[in-house]
Amino acid sequence: MNASSERSASLWGRHSSIEAPSLEANATAEVAVIGAGIAGLSIAYELARSAKEVVVLDRGRIGGGMTARTTGHLASELDDYYHVLIEKRGVDAAREVCRAQIEAVDRVETIVREEGIECDFRRLDGYLFLAPGTEPTLLEKEYEAARRVGLEVAWADRAPIPGVRTGRCLRFASQGRFHPLKYLDGLVEALRRRGARLYGDTIVNDVAEEGDGGVVVRMAGGAEMRVRACAVATNSPFNEVEVHYKQAPYRTYAIAGRVPRGSVEDALFWDTLDPYHYVRLQPADDASDWLISGGEDHKTGEADDMEVRFALLESWTRAHFPSFGAVEHRWSGQVLEPVDHVALIGRSTTGRNIYMATGDSGQGLTNGVAAGRLVAALIGGRELPYAEAHDPQRAVRSAVKEFVVENLDAARKLAEKVTPAEVGSADEIKPGEGAILRQGLKKLAAYRDPSGAIRSVSAECTHAGCIVSWNPFEKCWDCPCHGSHFAPDGTAINAPAVEPLGGQNS
Ligand SMILES: Cc1cc2nc3c(=O)[nH]c(=O)nc-3n(C[C@H](O)[C@H](O)[C@H](O)COP(=O)(O)OP(=O)(O)OC[C@H]3O[C@@H](n4cnc5c(N)ncnc54)[C@H](O)[C@@H]3O)c2cc1C
Ligand code: FES
Repeated sequence: MNASSERSASLWGRHSSIEAPSLEANATAEVAVIGAGIAGLSIAYELARSAKEVVVLDRGRIGGGMTARTTGHLASELDDYYHVLIEKRGVDAAREVCRAQIEAVDRVETIVREEGIECDFRRLDGYLFLAPGTEPTLLEKEYEAARRVGLEVAWADRAPIPGVRTGRCLRFASQGRFHPLKYLDGLVEALRRRGARLYGDTIVNDVAEEGDGGVVVRMAGGAEMRVRACAVATNSPFNEVEVHYKQAPYRTYAIAGRVPRGSVEDALFWDTLDPYHYVRLQPADDASDWLISGGEDHKTGEADDMEVRFALLESWTRAHFPSFGAVEHRWSGQVLEPVDHVALIGRSTTGRNIYMATGDSGQGLTNGVAAGRLVAALIGGRELPYAEAHDPQRAVRSAVKEFVVENLDAARKLAEKVTPAEVGSADEIKPGEGAILRQGLKKLAAYRDPSGAIRSVSAECTHAGCIVSWNPFEKCWDCPCHGSHFAPDGTAINAPAVEPLGGQNS
């Protein structure tokens, strides 16, 4: 199982249409890639192109992780802003990050063309406009920074939104958009044509480097795979400790409704609120497009007012895009925000032949594609120019303040072990809902199923012991510390956790 078993489904569906068997027996390969989202499949694709023998393993359906929940902007403009990145990491690192983002959009375009993938890929402009109440000089700062790092940017008198006065805004040329799951389907077909093997419903619970430099990948079912190198692309790595001090998980929300074709320009739109709104179109039928609108993010586990957030998102969308029809799709997902705003891609701390890709942030698609090129280059003994900027082992000195704040939050969640429980008794929990209950010194994650039966498990996350929170929209348990999600019965469905919430006593 993976995040495809959370309650909502995106406009794209729950997962790719590709079927893959589970792996039950011991096996060998040159490289194992763990995780079949945009990052894992991009890594596998680049390796297969350089004639490596690749195996992809996923705990659930192929493409059933956060990639199925994306909104599919392919942006080289940075959602945390280049002027902020320059302050944190300096202009040289910012140039490398910009180059990686530009090359990622180019790479998608090339792969789509060379592999004949029909995924509605299109190049288009992106518009960043000032939201009321946000810093008035933000656009000027970003304009200067974008030019310094080598990004194509220009001023526009207004964003092309009929009837809405956005004021002067920034226009970024050559951004992109696609249908993420059609793209993954195309990648998988291209992988299979090159002999790669893919397995779903195969939970990996350990990777370890051996004395000879080989890597053993251990599956929950007991099978083992011996490989020369392994890439962990599980969105949040299950085999790392240190990296979890460099990023934090956030839930984000999206809605989709139809607009008459031509009533909104086919472009990407962002405002400058924090959290910001993000908008794009997707062809629906001959006469209409889907307008997809996202935002209202919060730190994972720190909100249960999802209906309020969806209402705010809808009202902002209607105010800015008056032709927006009924909301036909609503979904949420999670991104991992690195404290210095740069994805963590490269060699793992756990072994020279173990690699990783995480810290996706709101640019997880372009970061996933960049991870494909970076990790494949490293495994092939080459370095790409932007490897250093993304090195997961980098110090985050310039982000010390945020580092401390993110980890105080995590520490606070651990401290919740000694604070009162959320409800006094299971009687207060309605059918289809969950809550935290105290049982002596322990905390339980209790869920009442639609038939009225209570199932309770330990509320301590099996990754590192934080207390989980009930997510009333997705009907799952979210861990606020490093991004794990669990099904109502405690089954782990999102990394880094692998084991179910323990001590089942239903
Ligand atoms: C609402 C929303 C909107 C977004 N919009 C954009 C956008 O417009 N542009 C953009 O660039 N990014 C966007 N993002 C971010 C981006 O979509 C994600 O960061 C990206 O898709 C993550 O890809 P991934 O491959 O790292 O992870 P995933 O797609 O989650 O893939 C990881 C895979 O690893 C598997 N796995 C986990 N643990 C194990 C294990 N132990 N064993 C085996 N397999 C395992 C999972 O089953 C999963 O399939 C958005 C995200 C959300 C939620
Ligand atoms: S995800 Fe790390 S403690 Fe829960």
